[in-house]
Amino acid sequence: MIVAIDGPSGSGKSSVAREVARRCGLTYLDTGAMYRSVALACLERGVDPEDAPSVAEVARTARVEFVSEGDGQRVLLDGRDVTAQIRTPEVELAVSPVSANPEVRETMVALQRACAASGDVVAEGRDIGTVVFPSAEVKVFLSASPEARARRRAVQRRGGNLATGDDVDVDAEVERAILADLVRRDEYDSSREASPLRAAEDAVAIDSSELGFNEVVERIVALSPVLAARSGEARS
Ligand code: DC
Repeated sequence: MIVAIDGPSGSGKSSVAREVARRCGLTYLDTGAMYRSVALACLERGVDPEDAPSVAEVARTARVEFVSEGDGQRVLLDGRDVTAQIRTPEVELAVSPVSANPEVRETMVALQRACAASGDVVAEGRDIGTVVFPSAEVKVFLSASPEARARRRAVQRRGGNLATGDDVDVDAEVERAILADLVRRDEYDSSREASPLRAAEDAVAIDSSELGFNEVVERIVALSPVLAARSGEARS
């Protein structure tokens, strides 16, 4: 069973995909973390993210792995835990040209398909339903208004938890900067030549601007009788 969840930055994909995977007993695959790890490897090896052939070589030689830890997951780069490091502003800047590189994408797509060899995954990214798993049983395109997405990112950065609904006060200035960065990344991800962000024709579109976290998760689980049954089994 493959569940593909695509959408722009800050649409809530990661938290939602993780929760669908947990409820239904599937493996969660964060493909953005893979591109981020390659971007980090470039920065560490002194490779310019715009130098396409060198970046492609980094992608081929870097070893990116996921290990489960309790309810969560750690990301390893060449055996080192880089879970926190791949979320820094430096990586955030470098990752756009890295993920627009067609050779990098080819290497990552092969890795993503290998990760799903067990057959039971919830994969989230930008091209999962269109390129990586075009025959996924469930495809979702999750979006939200730029303002709603910026607010969520700001809450997450302050340590608020979207899944539990914990809210925190956020600085308006910080929120504006996040909004500007989201808009820049949306534009880059949607207009690049290699696998631009777009919904698969057979994806179910969900706009999460006005929906709570649980509502989004429940809508996705309800899209497939197999998912609904698995979430019921996991609970009982
Ligand atoms: O989802 P995220 O913010 O962690 O993604 C990081 C970057 O990687 C972002 O610029 C989009 C890109 N990405 C991609 O091009 N294809 C994917 N399947 C996942 C992420």
